[in-house]
Amino acid sequence: MELKEAIYNRRSIRKYKEGKVPKETILEIIKDATCAPSGHNLQPWKFKILDDETKNKLATTLYEKYKDKKGYTAPFTAEVIKSLSTLVVVYLDSEEKDEFSRTINLLSIGGMIDEILLLAEERGLGTLWIADTNNIMEEIKEITSVNLESISCIGFGYKDQSPNKRPRKSLEEIIIE
Ligand SMILES: Cc1cc2nc3c(=O)[nH]c(=O)nc-3n(C[C@H](O)[C@H](O)[C@H](O)COP(=O)(O)O)c2cc1C
Repeated sequence: MELKEAIYNRRSIRKYKEGKVPKETILEIIKDATCAPSGHNLQPWKFKILDDETKNKLATTLYEKYKDKKGYTAPFTAEVIKSLSTLVVVYLDSEEKDEFSRTINLLSIGGMIDEILLLAEERGLGTLWIADTNNIMEEIKEITSVNLESISCIGFGYKDQSPNKRPRKSLEEIIIE
């Protein structure tokens, strides 16, 4: 698959078929994606591939915290997490001292995560980039037994939907002349 094809075909997938994506596949994708650039080559990331029990515990915690709050997508995201084959937590692993370094590290993680999504798309896997879980960062430390900031989660699984391309701004709207 051409890179451009992966870029145009990728969608956030929120409906998954049964089936476990092999751990080796996830590991290979992470290995490839971490060829991504990072500020000062600090590679400020760590990953945890959750087992099903931990994944479901995280989803339940998110659901319970937000189920009665209006205007949050978190309860819906929690349901999607339950249906995933695999949830990977991406942690910020750095000892930054200031806002500038933090921004650089977060940019680095964001770029690397996009590479994960494209590499998964290349393999025909469905993915969902999840940040609703940032609402339960402290809980995630405890649930996953990792004392780092969980900056994002990535869901993987076998697609059970083919959503249309979601709208994007035109070049005219985003290029400043
Ligand atoms: C940083 C970030 C956080 C996101 N968090 C969530 C989330 O918590 N739950 C969810 O369902 N989608 C989440 N998404 C997916 C976006 O909603 C999705 O990328 C956007 O609507 C465009 O759709 P597309 O990915 O299919 O092109 C997130 C995407 C990004 C980049």
